[in-house]
Amino acid sequence: MTKRVAIIGAGPSGLAQLRAFQSAQNAGADIPEVVCFEKQSNWGGLWNYSWRTGLDEYGEPVHGSMYRYLWSNGPKEGLEFADYSFEEHFGKQIASYPPRAVLFDYIEGRVKKAGVRDKIRFSTAVKNVDFKDGIFTVTARDLPNDRLYCEEFDHVIVCNGHFSTPNVPHFDGFDKFPGRVLHAHDFRDAVEFKDQDILIIGTSYSAEDIGSQCWKYGAKSITVSHRTAAMGYDWPDNWAEVPLLTHMDGKTAHFKDGTRRDVDTIILCTGYQHSFPFMSEDLRLKTANRLASNDLYKGVAYVHNPDLFYIGMQDQWFTFNMFDAQAWWARDVIMSRIETPDKAAMLSDVKDRVAREDAGQDDYDAIWYQGDYVKELIGETDYPDFDLEGACQAFKEWKGHKKKNIMTFRDNSYASVITGTMAPKHHTPWKDALDDSLEVYLQN
Ligand SMILES: Cc1cc2nc3c(=O)[nH]c(=O)nc-3n(C[C@H](O)[C@H](O)[C@H](O)COP(=O)(O)OP(=O)(O)OC[C@H]3O[C@@H](n4cnc5c(N)ncnc54)[C@H](O)[C@@H]3O)c2cc1C
Ligand SMILES: NC(=O)c1ccc[n+]([C@@H]2O[C@H](COP(=O)([O-])OP(=O)(O)OC[C@H]3O[C@@H](n4cnc5c(N)ncnc54)[C@H](OP(=O)(O)O)[C@@H]3O)[C@@H](O)[C@H]2O)c1
Repeated sequence: MTKRVAIIGAGPSGLAQLRAFQSAQNAGADIPEVVCFEKQSNWGGLWNYSWRTGLDEYGEPVHGSMYRYLWSNGPKEGLEFADYSFEEHFGKQIASYPPRAVLFDYIEGRVKKAGVRDKIRFSTAVKNVDFKDGIFTVTARDLPNDRLYCEEFDHVIVCNGHFSTPNVPHFDGFDKFPGRVLHAHDFRDAVEFKDQDILIIGTSYSAEDIGSQCWKYGAKSITVSHRTAAMGYDWPDNWAEVPLLTHMDGKTAHFKDGTRRDVDTIILCTGYQHSFPFMSEDLRLKTANRLASNDLYKGVAYVHNPDLFYIGMQDQWFTFNMFDAQAWWARDVIMSRIETPDKAAMLSDVKDRVAREDAGQDDYDAIWYQGDYVKELIGETDYPDFDLEGACQAFKEWKGHKKKNIMTFRDNSYASVITGTMAPKHHTPWKDALDDSLEVYLQN
């Protein structure tokens, strides 16, 4: 009997998994029967932009957290697929910080070439996964036909991402605030906030980028409130960093240091929750957003049931190529090319990874930690080897460019670690490039 494998989600992680199986098949191997469930009507995960917020047309929570005019926040040289370069896809080398539509096109190009679309059941949301007598039962809802059905699988690979279910803290006075309070998950278009005084809570990538978007598209002022530490970049004149919000009084925001200011809109850039409402309790991953996730052997196999895998559940410096490394590794466990050890050894692997992450001092340690992790997994499979040290160096340079000027870092270029070609300088500085379409971006 052929094994059956369920993949939940057709974002970059789920697509990496489909491509991993297809590449083994291409090389002549017998592969399991693979079914990918995707609740949206197209692939690409977060990169498949949706104007919707809240619930979708079927009453399902909208997955999308991306917004118009989003450009990659790290150099593309850090995420390039080792088996499908940017040059192969676009027929030329392109600049280093592509907008969303360009990255969507690139992600799609590889899986179109691989011919895996027919493995995906679109508009189908997984509602429940449980495990009994060595078999997983997946319950899914065919959304357009409102049909709930169950199927059995030998393995489940969870690829539903973890930047979709918002973490939404409460602050006193929000209930009487006369403006809009929204989470980054529901932010879609910076133009909406032109001429406004914006308050942002949080100091990570969403705060930095949504603030920068609002600045670029004409907000009057940006105030960023931090719980732990300010971002500390050399911000434009109409940008301030302040301690944590204590409460709102009407439209006046009060901060921990006793200062206050009036604002029109509050955007909570307070991160996301790992959320797997469809996994039964004994299969559900519980972890913080960190580099060494809880309960995942090699960051992939669920230690309490190693027939179950989670891809892309770590905090992310590396993205697409890390998902590839994990997907190739999960494939090889499923195809009995790699053996998983007993539970005690898997738990000890997790413990070691956590300790090594905790021993890191700064972001540079974190970058190399994750680079080494990707290298480790690639070393165990036939995923094409590539220059991970070069990718870590690109991230290091990127951080330097951000420190130098947070509004111009995207104007820099790096060399591909797959083909060695230097990226061209983009034709327009990021702050002046208001049109983020694929056609305009590729005009280099
Ligand atoms: C605002 C934002 C900007 C980002 N920018 C960058 C960037 O510039 N560069 C970068 O490398 N990374 C970026 N990321 C990180 C991002 O996590 C990865 O690039 C990538 O999208 C993760 O892929 P994934 O497949 O793991 O998850 P996702 O892209 O989230 O895809 C998960 C898929 O699972 C599907 N799904 C969810 N639940 C179910 C269900 N119950 N049943 C069926 N299907 C389901 C979803 O519809 C979705 O298609 C960004 C993230 C956010 C939130
Ligand atoms: N392409 C792009 O430009 C782009 C844009 C946006 C996002 N992204 C990606 O999206 C992912 C998620 O990033 P993210 O910034 O949304 O989440 P995140 O990195 O998890 O950061 C969450 C932030 O929220 C703060 N926070 C959480 N709870 C809080 C509370 N109760 N009060 C005050 N502050 C609180 C945290 O502060 P502490 O430090 O105090 O914990 C932290 O600054 C990342 O992978 C990122 O790369 C990319």
